[in-house]
Amino acid sequence: MSADYTQRPSSARIYDALLGGSHNFAADRDAARKLLAAIPYAAEMARVNRAFLARAVQHMVDAGVRQFLDVGSGIPTAGNVHEVAQAAAPDARVVYVDIDPVAVEHSREILAENPLATVVQADIRFADDLLARPELRDLLDFSQPVGLLMLSMLHFVPDDEAFPAVDRLRGSLAPGSFIAISHGVIDTPADASTGEVSSIYARSDVPTAAGRPRAGIQRFFGAATMEPPGLVWLHEWPTPPADAERPEHMAVLAGVGRL
Ligand SMILES: C[S@@+](CC[C@H](N)C(=O)[O-])C[C@H]1O[C@@H](n2cnc3c(N)ncnc32)[C@H](O)[C@@H]1O
Repeated sequence: MSADYTQRPSSARIYDALLGGSHNFAADRDAARKLLAAIPYAAEMARVNRAFLARAVQHMVDAGVRQFLDVGSGIPTAGNVHEVAQAAAPDARVVYVDIDPVAVEHSREILAENPLATVVQADIRFADDLLARPELRDLLDFSQPVGLLMLSMLHFVPDDEAFPAVDRLRGSLAPGSFIAISHGVIDTPADASTGEVSSIYARSDVPTAAGRPRAGIQRFFGAATMEPPGLVWLHEWPTPPADAERPEHMAVLAGVGRL
């Protein structure tokens, strides 16, 4: 990995820095500090997002899903999909996908001894290429339900590429499959910092970093039936916790749909 590479922040490593991980460089930590100055709740949202991941995966396992495709999976941290899924169902198979080489390298390391999980370096914008990857085809059977996760990543993909790519992935799934999405939403009090956030990510590896309106996020689910309670604040799926953060601190919606 070249020194130049480490000087350009990546969305995967900024997120790792927010979560207190150790797989990030000075440029990523600097971007994370700026992000926290713009959105003081960013680190909390990252932690809440990981908790949503665990609940969504558990929900799918409970519904009988035994194979998972986690796109934009990030740098491994506590509570990865294979850990949650295989704790409940040891035969669960998981394919991680990320564009970031650091995320892929560390995923490969932690999965080395796990024959039922693998990682693929790929870009969701090229969904056909992703679906054709032998590593993915070897582990997942698309005639059976799959749990597709795209958590906190679609806001890094522009409309003209994100919608067709997700349509393509969703269209490849068998009935009974699930889709879980968490996504930055606009039209919240946190919007005041939208310009600052965009300028922080403009120096990173992703082409954009912009929330979508609720209707845009809902569109990613296509004709899937939303599991109750539908598309809600990240921390409120599937039930609001008793000590819930005030919603205005959140700028991320989450939901699970069933095909
Ligand atoms: C904020 S992290 C979220 C990680 C994980 N999904 C989670 O929710 O904890 C976003 C991840 O999406 C990845 N990503 C961004 N654009 C992508 C693309 N076009 N294709 C695949 N992965 C992408 C980044 O590299 C990063 O690891």
